Amino acid sequence: APKPLVDRFGRVHTDLRLSLTDRCNLRCTYCMPAEGLAWLPKDELLGDDEIVRLVGIATGRLGITEVRLTGGEPLVRRGLPGLVARLSGLPKTPELSITTNGIGLARTAGALREAGLGRVNVSLDTLRPERFAAITRRDRLTDVLEGLRAARAAGLDPVKVNAVPVRGVNDDEIADLTAFAVENGYRMRFIESMPLDAQGAWEREKMVTAAEILDRIGERFTLTPVPREDNAPAEEWRIDGTDAYVGVIASVTRPFCGNCDRVRLTADGQLRNCLFATKESDLRALLRAGADDDALEVAWRSCIAVKGPGHAINSEDFRRPDRPMSAIGG
Ligand code: GTP
Ligand code: 5AD
Ligand code: SF4
Repeated sequence: APKPLVDRFGRVHTDLRLSLTDRCNLRCTYCMPAEGLAWLPKDELLGDDEIVRLVGIATGRLGITEVRLTGGEPLVRRGLPGLVARLSGLPKTPELSITTNGIGLARTAGALREAGLGRVNVSLDTLRPERFAAITRRDRLTDVLEGLRAARAAGLDPVKVNAVPVRGVNDDEIADLTAFAVENGYRMRFIESMPLDAQGAWEREKMVTAAEILDRIGERFTLTPVPREDNAPAEEWRIDGTDAYVGVIASVTRPFCGNCDRVRLTADGQLRNCLFATKESDLRALLRAGADDDALEVAWRSCIAVKGPGHAINSEDFRRPDRPMSAIGG
């Protein structure tokens, strides 16, 4: 049986966030510049065989039970349903989910479901086409809405919607987005923006806090708290008079690092013990040097052994990580 991946604070790591690419087909203003970023060269990305091997070690030896596919935009990776099928076929199958901007989901939701994907989180910051084009710098709201419908129709369950409210940009749509999710059977969450954009433009004053988000929702809905899911970043509420839930992910004003159960693998094979880690462990180098499973297991445990207590966004000596969120995996 796997021996759990425990750090020096006793946190057990069961959740792997696996970035499949650093590329994206949108250019959200709070994430990356209009011109995009210097994408990783193809030969530096892990191939499907390398990913399947590492996830096999994670589930077989380290007690990882959940694998979240992220990006960049994970749906831009070629042959994704095939990779999902291989991950579902591992001797110890992880629960598989994906976090996507929804573009292309209309085409692939069915195949992903059949391959073994369980559920999906779709990013959607506005319901207004012009505003969508301004935020993401691409006029593709319709694709995202079709993607959401396809996900639901394919039986992916739950379908969650993530929105990052930005002051003066889309913070007036918090109640509208909530109503949209209630009407369509999606699980809505609002996220406090974190200083992880590529441009270094994050400002605390532009961040809409969880307290403000709840006030905005409260203008139209009455909420009843529900117990937090184990180690989940989201705090959730039941919306009275409906069977819907709404949540906030208050990474900045109510950090949840004390319960963190996550480890991240970047698309280029670097293991990170935190979104805000300042060091990475180069699993790709080990893999490509012919390391055996024992050596990879040791590297993985060593990375978790030096995990810090949590992010320091609220402290004087906060340092941004060396990579933006799009290259780490959300
Ligand atoms: P589920 O609730 O399991 O569906 O996943 P999730 O909400 O953790 O995942 P998702 O990919 O939808 O991420 C939503 C947001 O949560 C991200 O944009 C991040 O802002 C935040 N988040 C996810 N993981 C972490 C983490 O390890 N640390 C912090 N501070 N924030 C995280
Ligand atoms: N802070 C918080 N969340 C962010 N996302 C992208 N950039 C940031 C940021 N700086 C969100 C996306 C997506 C999720 C993976 O991360 O909107 O829903
Ligand atoms: Fe792409 Fe996500 Fe960044 Fe938007 S937030 S540009 S969808 S990686």
